[in-house]
Amino acid sequence: MSSKIKIEEPHLKKKILDYYNFNTKDLYMELWSRDHLHFGCFEPGECPEPTETGAEFRDSPGFVRALARMVDVIIAPADIGPDSFVVDAGCGIGGTALHLARKFGCRVMGVNIVPLHIDLASKMADDEGLSDLLGFRLGDCSQHLPAEDNSVDVVINIESACHYIDRQQFLREVYRILKPGGKIVASDWLYRDGASDEEYEKYIRPITDSWALPSLECQSSYVPLVKNAGFRLLSFGGFDGKDADNIRIFRNLHQFLLKFYMAGVNTPEFLNLFEKIRSLYIGWRDGFFELGHYVAEKPK
Ligand SMILES: C[S@@+](CC[C@H](N)C(=O)[O-])C[C@H]1O[C@@H](n2cnc3c(N)ncnc32)[C@H](O)[C@@H]1O
Repeated sequence: MSSKIKIEEPHLKKKILDYYNFNTKDLYMELWSRDHLHFGCFEPGECPEPTETGAEFRDSPGFVRALARMVDVIIAPADIGPDSFVVDAGCGIGGTALHLARKFGCRVMGVNIVPLHIDLASKMADDEGLSDLLGFRLGDCSQHLPAEDNSVDVVINIESACHYIDRQQFLREVYRILKPGGKIVASDWLYRDGASDEEYEKYIRPITDSWALPSLECQSSYVPLVKNAGFRLLSFGGFDGKDADNIRIFRNLHQFLLKFYMAGVNTPEFLNLFEKIRSLYIGWRDGFFELGHYVAEKPK
């Protein structure tokens, strides 16, 4: 466990529940996406242009494509097919599971610690007539994954482990449930390798505090967690700049909110939102925050 963690587990769980109960419908689903709670992976020209409000990108076709492409890029090494059984650990409101069921006709079990997310994901699956392929279970992925030993082909974990207090236990659980030869494909929020404690406090602590995260890993702290769980690490890297337009979106949002901040708006709700957007924008802009992804295999 990272030494930078400062929050205790029961407090963290409450913080995460409060955070997503407060933010899911009115922030994430209004502002970002109706189905994906993760960053986009952009092709040139897809990033929505800045607007007066800075917040009109949710339905723009390029942005919608970039969010779905992020899933495609992450799962590409997993060789998912119609017979695969996939676990989506930290499944959000079900966008990834639905995307996979539509694309491959495979079975997906989403796991989430937030009951609201389970409800929203189950409703989306019902509405699309995909409930026979998709199931959503309440659970804390950092403790236990609700699947039998050696029963799962692929585990997907998109921008969720940053919320976990025990990532080593999560990876041990992933290893337990995967079949030999099965893979975990994941993306996560990271701080830049080599950042000093002072830089972590200045750039990363505001992110972890405002986004309900106990701490972030960097690449060099993550790799041993993956290997200690027994995995063969196949790759660990970034997105070669295809994630950069996310910063542009955060810059627009930041500029938009800054006007209100300078005008003296200081309700707790506003300040909470402003701190979230500002911390991520500045951490990313100044090179201390990054998005990483990795692929690891349980040896045959
Ligand atoms: C940023 S969202 C990403 C959601 C989804 N993977 C996606 O890409 O849309 C993080 C998700 O992880 C879930 N989560 C956080 N901590 C968790 C835990 N300990 N166990 C299971 N789910 C968790 C949250 O409720 C949320 O749905």
